[in-house]
Amino acid sequence: MDEANKQATEKSREEDEKPLDGQDPSSISRRDLLKLAGAGGIGLLLGSVGVGSVWAGTAKLGAPAASTASNAGPKQVIPFYDTHQAGIVTPAQDFICFAAFDLTTVKLSEVRDLFRRWTEAAAKMTAGQPVGGEDDQPSLPPADTGEAAGLHPCRTTITFGVGPSLFDSRFGLGAKRPEALADLPRFGGDSLRPEWCGGDIGVQVCADDLQVAFHALRNLTRLARGVAVLRWTQEGFQRTGGSGSAGETPRNLMGFKDGTANPDIHDKQAMNDIVWVQPSEQPAWMSGGSYMVVRRIRMRIEVWDRSTLSDQEATFGRYRSSGAPLGAKNEFDPLALDAKDEAGQPAIPLTAHVRLAHGEGPSEKILRRSYSYSSGIDRQTGQLDAGLLFICYQRDPRAQFVPIQQRLAKRDKLNEYIVHVGSALFACFPGARQGGYIGEGLFE
Ligand code: HEM
Repeated sequence: MDEANKQATEKSREEDEKPLDGQDPSSISRRDLLKLAGAGGIGLLLGSVGVGSVWAGTAKLGAPAASTASNAGPKQVIPFYDTHQAGIVTPAQDFICFAAFDLTTVKLSEVRDLFRRWTEAAAKMTAGQPVGGEDDQPSLPPADTGEAAGLHPCRTTITFGVGPSLFDSRFGLGAKRPEALADLPRFGGDSLRPEWCGGDIGVQVCADDLQVAFHALRNLTRLARGVAVLRWTQEGFQRTGGSGSAGETPRNLMGFKDGTANPDIHDKQAMNDIVWVQPSEQPAWMSGGSYMVVRRIRMRIEVWDRSTLSDQEATFGRYRSSGAPLGAKNEFDPLALDAKDEAGQPAIPLTAHVRLAHGEGPSEKILRRSYSYSSGIDRQTGQLDAGLLFICYQRDPRAQFVPIQQRLAKRDKLNEYIVHVGSALFACFPGARQGGYIGEGLFE
């Protein structure tokens, strides 16, 4: 080993010995975690010392600003084994790598094995560990691809779901398909492209570091070889915790605060009402799970940039600068839906996005967890291919996302500036227990 390598090894050893939270000397080190990972004890350890039990981080495109105490840093671990899957009511991380997979096998046993492998790998990667352990053979490809070596866990979450197509004739699962996993209807104005739609399986990887998130998705893809292939992927971002705006509602690519009126993720009752499938609901394997709708929504940014400020504000029904509803003063003031402007017209226009999205009663609320995306240039127009990777969670899309989107599709003034080009729906399993695996309730 040359001198440089020795120094690097020593430095990495010192890093490994550091406590994970960087402050409490009694807390576990990365090296401890490595040892326990070998013994299959990560979840146990996390459970026992409560690492990651305090959720903190940056706000999300879709999170109330109150959820934004970013003081835990990149060493924070969000436990993988839990009642619910992480990555749903977890305060949104800075980055997302989303992927939809199609199964190439027709054997249910191979699907089951894939989820077992994925569970084990996800538990490791969310704890900042490599997949497959540390003892690589020189004559074989390394078990882990390596680009996250030495990097912190960065609040990685990996959330798995299955799409309606999983319940076709291939695996004999038809009778287990949830009614709530009904195909989404076609909405007016949709311009969906097959390359951004559907998937037998959806995997949402989020982390406060893009390389860490990418590593996780890449290794899951690798583990799926011979059983499933990527169908489509999309990376997304929001302003990072380091940008100095922690605590404020993030802005979308149209310059508006996005997430103000999202339900409070810390309100358990609200999350039970809006997000989590309840034990009284069918099928039992979805109890504690949630339905994820994903829409890849392209923004016509160049057109938006030529519209006036007052037109932009009328489009959303909120002031750009403060985020307050039109006719109100502060960002978190309620929508004054009956207020009139000086001309006697509704202060929030009848076609404003927030008026139409507001939802008719509590049963129509959704939890948004969206990210901005930018994917180079649309070669046909020479314009930016950028927009919103809209993601929302709910107990039943038929009663929540669908009626909201039907109203938006008909009348939303925002439609002048956006087009829905991708769409997918996934039933996200409840969390896995230690020793079990994600999807067990469905596959066993
Ligand atoms: C590119 C597309 C979209 C953009 C740029 C966008 C942006 C916004 C903004 C700026 C707000 C106001 C601030 C806030 O409360 O978060 C908002 C509110 C909201 N949006 Fe969207 N949105 C988009 C698509 C959608 C879609 C597809 C849905 C669901 C079908 C949706 C549902 C909502 C809801 C439920 C609210 C809160 C309304 C309220 O109760 O005040 N949005 N959106």
